[in-house]
Amino acid sequence: MSLTPQQIQAICRLTDKVTGIQWDSSKDYLIESRIVARLAEFGCTSLDALIAKIDAGDVVAKNAFIDAVTTRETLFFRDESPYIALEHKALPEIIDAKTSSYFPKRLRLWSAAASTGQEAYSLAICLLEMLPDIWNWDVQILATDISDAALATASRGIYSDFETGRGMRPDLLNKYFQKVSNGWQVKDEVRSLVTFQKRNLLQPFDGLGPFDVLFCRYVAIYFDLPVRRELFERLSRTMTADGCLFVGASENLSDFGAKWAPQFHCRAVYYQPNKARTTFSLQPQSPAAVLAPAGPKLSAVPAPVSKMARILAPMK
Ligand SMILES: C[S@@+](CC[C@H](N)C(=O)[O-])C[C@H]1O[C@@H](n2cnc3c(N)ncnc32)[C@H](O)[C@@H]1O
Repeated sequence: MSLTPQQIQAICRLTDKVTGIQWDSSKDYLIESRIVARLAEFGCTSLDALIAKIDAGDVVAKNAFIDAVTTRETLFFRDESPYIALEHKALPEIIDAKTSSYFPKRLRLWSAAASTGQEAYSLAICLLEMLPDIWNWDVQILATDISDAALATASRGIYSDFETGRGMRPDLLNKYFQKVSNGWQVKDEVRSLVTFQKRNLLQPFDGLGPFDVLFCRYVAIYFDLPVRRELFERLSRTMTADGCLFVGASENLSDFGAKWAPQFHCRAVYYQPNKARTTFSLQPQSPAAVLAPAGPKLSAVPAPVSKMARILAPMK
């Protein structure tokens, strides 16, 4: 079936309205393969009938449409470095900061756009490895996604050899999964830390949070800039003061303002949008360097640096 420009436009508009995902005419091959070729699965004989059905509020058709337009590519411990940063920097600092709080042993994590669950289970395994007394802690990992198909796979928690082979270390596979006839099933101790919920990131986050750790990775890339900016602003309101946000390797939030200054650990970058930071500027003219609170960023203007200032300067 060859698509008219009007049909392509109508599908792109519908995709945007329902999911925020931006498609344009260059995605006609996706419209062909994911929607036109599967019209019978939607119970429709034409594209126009499908659009009319969803516009009329047919929830079954809308959910099937969402499953068709979403890209659910994911893997265990994706990119590795965020999990190293989580284990060696972000979580130890969060846990330290909590020691004087009312709930020193409460941890809340959110895998927003969790797809088929690999991200949430990787977080759970990371915590299990890190906290030998985890069962004395109050830990919850919320995993959300807009796609019913993704959530069904995620809650089942069974992965093929191919899927576990993508990112799951053999020792962790043997420790946290059991072999079943059709693959590897996540053990109950891992599963019990994770709750799955259907959520559209475009809709309000009422009742969610506050989260200490938020993974919102490889989903905002599908949205346009104003939606991305607003999404991260709303996400920041679900996070604790020390909360850490991890995004995909290709996603950079530093253009969104000072509170999105990146935090680095090895090759990983994360953000602490609610952290009150006191930075210091060195006064080079004074006999001894004076440490004074400065604005959110250190001055970028190079100035002559006194001997004492050089001693006090952090190592690069
Ligand atoms: C490429 S996967 C990323 C999975 C995982 N975060 C990772 O980094 O491996 C993108 C996921 O975002 C979900 N998604 C797309 N639009 C969404 C929306 N508006 N609200 C919630 N989830 C959405 C898709 O269903 C898909 O599972």
